[in-house]
Amino acid sequence: MPADAPPVDALRFSGIAKIFGGVKALDDVSFTVGAGEVHCLAGENGCGKSTLIKIVTGVYQPEPGARMQIFGQDYAQISPTQARKAGIAVIWQDLALFAEMTVAENIAFETMLGNRPRGVSYSRLRTAAASALARLDVDLDLDARLGDLPIAQRQIVAIARALVSDARLIFMDEPTASLTQSETDALLSVVRTLSARGVAVVFVSHRLAEVLEISSRVTVLRDGKLVGVYPTEGMTQSRLTELMTGSSFAQDVMARDPTGSDVLRVDDLSRAGEYEGVSFTLRGGEVLGLTGLIGAGRTELCHTLFGMTPADRGRISLNGRELNLSSNRDAVAEGIAYVSEDRLALGLIQPQSISDNTVLAVLRRITGGVGLLSGQKQEATVAHWMAELAVKIGKPADAVSTLSGGNQQRVVLAKWLATQPKVLLLDCPTVGVDVGARAGIFRIVRQLAEKGLAILLVSDEVPEVYMNADRVLHMAGGRIVAEWDPRRTGLSEMEAAVYA
Ligand SMILES: Nc1ncnc2c1ncn2[C@@H]1O[C@H](COP(=O)(O)OP(=O)(O)OP(=O)(O)O)[C@@H](O)[C@H]1O
Ligand SMILES: [Mg+2]
Repeated sequence: MPADAPPVDALRFSGIAKIFGGVKALDDVSFTVGAGEVHCLAGENGCGKSTLIKIVTGVYQPEPGARMQIFGQDYAQISPTQARKAGIAVIWQDLALFAEMTVAENIAFETMLGNRPRGVSYSRLRTAAASALARLDVDLDLDARLGDLPIAQRQIVAIARALVSDARLIFMDEPTASLTQSETDALLSVVRTLSARGVAVVFVSHRLAEVLEISSRVTVLRDGKLVGVYPTEGMTQSRLTELMTGSSFAQDVMARDPTGSDVLRVDDLSRAGEYEGVSFTLRGGEVLGLTGLIGAGRTELCHTLFGMTPADRGRISLNGRELNLSSNRDAVAEGIAYVSEDRLALGLIQPQSISDNTVLAVLRRITGGVGLLSGQKQEATVAHWMAELAVKIGKPADAVSTLSGGNQQRVVLAKWLATQPKVLLLDCPTVGVDVGARAGIFRIVRQLAEKGLAILLVSDEVPEVYMNADRVLHMAGGRIVAEWDPRRTGLSEMEAAVYA
């Protein structure tokens, strides 16, 4: 090939369709990624992004008629092994790493073992791992046990492992969903390094600022169809939102003075190593924002308010009465609901149906967990909340695991709202939720507040609390360090304080 010939594209797919039980998850989609390009896939929850990634990586087979080319070579069918051999790697959300092995082993073991079935020395593994990390401009302790590392560093390990196996195209499906701001910055810089070294990256994120910052082009899907492919230069978040959703979501600061009386009162609450001297009052009809970096103690505080871990000191009162919560069942019985940031661990029972998940918390509240709801009542409850929250589902009897991430999050919300709580603790309720759905969730939050619910809105995305809360508390190092009124303190001032 002459030196000035254009490099072949990493990926040229067209005519991609995928049908799940009659539902068209993808419909005649084309998808092209240039060599060494950072390309984003954008679209609302359930539009088909993860499905497209699974087709490209051989996990799912597309419907007949697909044309698939990887680095210039045509494929009639792609298996996961073929995809890997062709230079494609995926950083799955669970990362598929081994907690008990070291960083070096995780990075280099599989690949090197494949080459030399009689085993490899640890020093050779270390050398290979070190060189992969060096290519990423990252420094990690090669001998650390993987299970001891934070999620952000494990991701880097998964990316380094892809490099050891000569990946030239790496897919990352919502890699930043559970990262702090500084971890996100570090990951974006790794993505830039990859791209500069000729490795293409396909990146999925619901944080549009990130999408515009990192990619050179973005492919937009809506309802399984291709909307278009756009250069990100000159693209704005509001334009991208419009392309994704077909409408625009202009938002104003929602803060106003709540009129209800004090519902939840927290006095000098402390728990060693987690939070210290926390006091605040939450009124009926109020949306109180709580922001701060991951690790500031926000989730730990929520766990105590939900009865999961006791405080060492201090008081929690509800409507003037001191609470003595010894389990989350107590909290639910008192009318406290908790939408957790970790829907996989705490929110949903994945193999069970959408319907059963939705009424789960109602059952616990009414019957202490052993009773039954009449089939008719369950059906009505489920239908009501699926419509209210616009959850995109097939049948209520489908397993909740078949839903896209954002739709799962809505089921978690439905499950708690169905208990008709007095206090709603929302812990990062929009992680993995698309921009249209976020607007929908915050509209519901506001309506619930207007009905008198007391809402604690926890988020590490400062704009979320700035836009949607009446008051904002800033938590850092386990303490409340500031209180802001969004009508008086600007977004940039809040962000500067939180990310300082
Ligand atoms: N294994 C499956 N069985 C049945 N339906 C599925 C399956 N996988 C995906 N779907 C459906 O296909 C559609 C596309 O889902 P997909 O996970 O690709 O969405 P997504 O764009 O990744 O959404 P999110 O942003 O929420 O992650 C959804 O309607 C989903 O419910
Ligand atoms: Mg997805």
